[in-house]
Amino acid sequence: MNMMEWTQAMSVGSITIDNQHKQLIALINKLGEAMQQGRGNDVMNEVLSELTDYTIKHFRYEESIFSASRYPHSELHKQKHTVLVDQVKSIRAKMESGQSAVSTSTFNFLKDWVSEHIIKTDMTYSSYI
Ligand SMILES: [Fe+2]
Ligand SMILES: [Fe+2]
Repeated sequence: MNMMEWTQAMSVGSITIDNQHKQLIALINKLGEAMQQGRGNDVMNEVLSELTDYTIKHFRYEESIFSASRYPHSELHKQKHTVLVDQVKSIRAKMESGQSAVSTSTFNFLKDWVSEHIIKTDMTYSSYI
């Protein structure tokens, strides 16, 4: 299982946001590592809740930057954030109820979503902030 890595190609031109993305990636990797080590549901729940909270915080920060700029894709971008937050909340709910465990596919889904979002979506505000 490959861990996620922040690369210079992901830089949106803001040190604050780049650092938030690095932190987000670190938390996804923490989830992947906990999974790989076969950690119990309590540990996984904790990591997943940390990841959810941080994701929400990061999205709020980005959205506050849009409001203060002339970025024209703010609505569509916010919708993408909302969809992911809902998906993560539903993964969490399933885990908490014991319906499912975090699997490699959950980890890969998060990893792919975040790298694609940074490269394709976050990059579109780069010239407006
Ligand atoms: Fe972002
Ligand atoms: Fe974003």
